Amino acid sequence: MVFRVYVTSNEVPETALEMVRKVAEVRINPAYGTPSKETLLKEVTDIDGLFCNITEKVDAPLLDAAKKLKIVASMSVGFDHIDLDAATKLGILATHTPGVLTEAVADETLGLMLAVSRRLVEGDRYVRDGSWKLKWSPMLMVGRDVYSKTLGIYGLGRIGIAVAKRAKGFGMRIVYYDAFRNADAEKSLGIEFRSKEEVIRESDYLSVHVPLLPETRNSISTKELEMMKPTAYLINTARGGVVDEKALIEALRTGRIAGAGLDVFEREPVDVDNPLLKMKNVVVEPHLASGSIESRTAMAVLAAQNLVAGLKGEVPPNLVNKQVLERRRT
Ligand code: DGY
Repeated sequence: MVFRVYVTSNEVPETALEMVRKVAEVRINPAYGTPSKETLLKEVTDIDGLFCNITEKVDAPLLDAAKKLKIVASMSVGFDHIDLDAATKLGILATHTPGVLTEAVADETLGLMLAVSRRLVEGDRYVRDGSWKLKWSPMLMVGRDVYSKTLGIYGLGRIGIAVAKRAKGFGMRIVYYDAFRNADAEKSLGIEFRSKEEVIRESDYLSVHVPLLPETRNSISTKELEMMKPTAYLINTARGGVVDEKALIEALRTGRIAGAGLDVFEREPVDVDNPLLKMKNVVVEPHLASGSIESRTAMAVLAAQNLVAGLKGEVPPNLVNKQVLERRRT
């Protein structure tokens, strides 16, 4: 039987596509970017597998239209763009790519911490625009130390742990909150479990690593931002929806917190008029945390492995909706 697969991006590395081509006919969105809703609805009607990214909303109407679809393989660790309930009801497998982007995201998290606290982006602009007049001056553009400060990790999954390992090298004290306590990590990394409120209050750097779920949406809002130290920085490389952006803008505007390093936003691409983009104490990135060539290639390959396994009737290694196995489509 020849399977049909639709790939939503024309930037997926060839190594991954080759793997899929061995078992299926592959149709790739020819245009740069995400296909329109109408195009997607049309493209899914005859496919067995969908290879997608976080940019595609894989909702109930789309899944309903895909009568033969067996598997949605997302090239992402996050899966908040997929309606898992609808997929499970219809017997469609949903997979993601955990693990392979952990180190890249952790690297960027530390990068954002350093960039915002030591004013690296501001300094770069200052030099380029000709503002640098005096060879050296004692208090020019001084920032705050990372060394020896307290890092609060909100969400201790793989990425939170990788961030903690790096932060150890910076001599940081690390506290964390997660719905599940991790005694092994506490022991091996010397990190301390706290309530969410304690983590927020104690942190000099509060780094967000929880997935976007109904219970984590806007879970950093006015109340939480008001608990933070006025000298503290918020770093978000997880999902924009976890932080209430209006509340964050207000906290930064009023000096309630010292700054923020943001890779993700409530709406992406972020609106150019968003007040966050006018603030000097905010460093922004275009959802790039996993954006190393090594990591993105590994994500594509893992998505392809999941897809191929799903099409062949095997259990994909990174299945998200395990309950689907009882009713999967053949
Ligand atoms: C993910 O994988 O969920 C990221 O947000 C994109 O790398």
